[in-house]
Amino acid sequence: MKICCIGAGYVGGPTMAVIALKCPSVEVAVVDISVKRIAAWNSNRLPIYEPGLYDIVAQCRGRNLSFSTDVEKHVSEADIVFISVNTPTKTFGLGAGKAADLTYWESAARTIADVSTSDKIVVEKSTVPVRTGESLKKILTHNSKGINYQILSNPEFLAEGTTVQDLLRPDRVLIGGLETPEGQKAAQVLKDVYAHWVPEDRIITINLWSAELSKLVANAYLAQRISSINSISALCEATGADVSEVARAVGKDSRVGPMYLNASFGFGGSAFIKDILSLVYICECNGLTDVAEYWNQVLKINDFQKNRFVKRVISSMFNTVVGKKIAVLGFAFKKDTGDTRDTPVIDVCKGLLDDKATLSIYDPQVSEEQIKYDLTMQKLDWDRSSSNQLLILSPTEMKQVHTARNAYEAAEGAHCVCILNDWDEFRELDYRKIYEAMCKPAFIFDGRNVVDPEKLRAIGFIVYSIGKPLDAWVKSIAVAV
Ligand code: NAD
Ligand code: UDX
Repeated sequence: MKICCIGAGYVGGPTMAVIALKCPSVEVAVVDISVKRIAAWNSNRLPIYEPGLYDIVAQCRGRNLSFSTDVEKHVSEADIVFISVNTPTKTFGLGAGKAADLTYWESAARTIADVSTSDKIVVEKSTVPVRTGESLKKILTHNSKGINYQILSNPEFLAEGTTVQDLLRPDRVLIGGLETPEGQKAAQVLKDVYAHWVPEDRIITINLWSAELSKLVANAYLAQRISSINSISALCEATGADVSEVARAVGKDSRVGPMYLNASFGFGGSAFIKDILSLVYICECNGLTDVAEYWNQVLKINDFQKNRFVKRVISSMFNTVVGKKIAVLGFAFKKDTGDTRDTPVIDVCKGLLDDKATLSIYDPQVSEEQIKYDLTMQKLDWDRSSSNQLLILSPTEMKQVHTARNAYEAAEGAHCVCILNDWDEFRELDYRKIYEAMCKPAFIFDGRNVVDPEKLRAIGFIVYSIGKPLDAWVKSIAVAV
């Protein structure tokens, strides 16, 4: 059997590497239009940082796993073609700021239609709007030259930073197919691939539209849990309750469960925001405005939370950060990844720079080049109410952005430290050393509840931790957050 995956990104690369590892008799080719990305997959420095991934790639590459820019050759030879291209939010035109941009998806579908000479199972791996499978079928069959295509939806649930573990031991593998004999047969072929390592009771076959929608709903549910606990974090700060204790108490109820209840200054990443926006848009297109507004609230609370964090920082520091050095620890959207797509750190940096702070940013996996690129890139405005593109930072503001080689360098001479992602190394820093090198009073704003506030207060820091009882200093400052 030959499998080809179109799109060598965060999903296509690792997913296919694990299939190649677990199915030695299957030939797996990952193809991409990006020459740079394919070159990186063929090198010793993979294009993405993901614990455990290199070993798997190194084991399979040259055996039954290849990375290539020859899209046409590998697609035409394959029995199963996965489409794993990016489906970002549209930034212009109809549905801008909400709808999924299916440009890349359509170009992949047209390539399959153009170059295929034999029957194929085409698998939607990308996250797509519900009923995209129908459009896929139309593109393929309108150009079919008598070829038989079976369409399956097989959304991916991996999370970055834990990709390899998630792929090796998934909670479930979802396979959506049409309820025709041919559709069911195709689903069985894909099921047999996964059955090489996934227990059968974890491979769920359902209808195509349910599979497509389940992916958007799964992400919306996870994000909703974070926004729920984040909204409560604001109430905890106002009342003296501790959000970690509340989350633990609530999560102990087996009907609720403990996961995704870690309060933070806001969630980010390439999936949650764009997938909820897509869900909202689909609801609106179906005339379900109340349902759309319900899910939109998850994003509104996320924006509220990022904004609230910035206000806490500025208001606590005498309501002015002009010219003050702020150490920003963490730039990727979470630990154990170098991915900065939709990282909430950008919004916090932007908020601080608006008040004319000077930033010194450090992330163990994000380069200076990437940080500066992200901060100058255009982005939709915060409330997503218009499709206007805003330049995130002016050239003057960019002069206020510096990067550091480590946390100590970032904090040297700083007025405050903002902890904005949860890298393990931020838990283990020598905070006494950091305190001594900072301007006084020295502040720490922990946006991920990484440090123990009491231990840092004992050193002398003024500490703000999301949803935790407020430091007397922070409390005494009356500001609407
Ligand atoms: P990505 O941007 O990392 O990778 C997509 C790749 O597709 C890029 O390298 C791009 O060059 C390539 N591509 C685009 N059009 C192409 C074409 N016509 N022919 C060949 N290559 C083409 O994206 P990703 O993070 O891997 O996400 C892929 C899909 O999976 C998205 O729909 C995303 O929502 C979904 N998803 C992502 C994650 C995640 O954690 N990143 C998790 C689950 C699902
Ligand atoms: C998510 C889904 O978890 C995954 O199933 C899907 O396939 C892709 O989207 P990912 O975006 O990689 O994965 O990371 P995830 O660990 O879910 O975190 C997303 C964001 O939520 C991060 O910014 C993270 O820091 C934040 N988060 C997560 C919280 O703020 N609190 C939590 O309790 C959990």
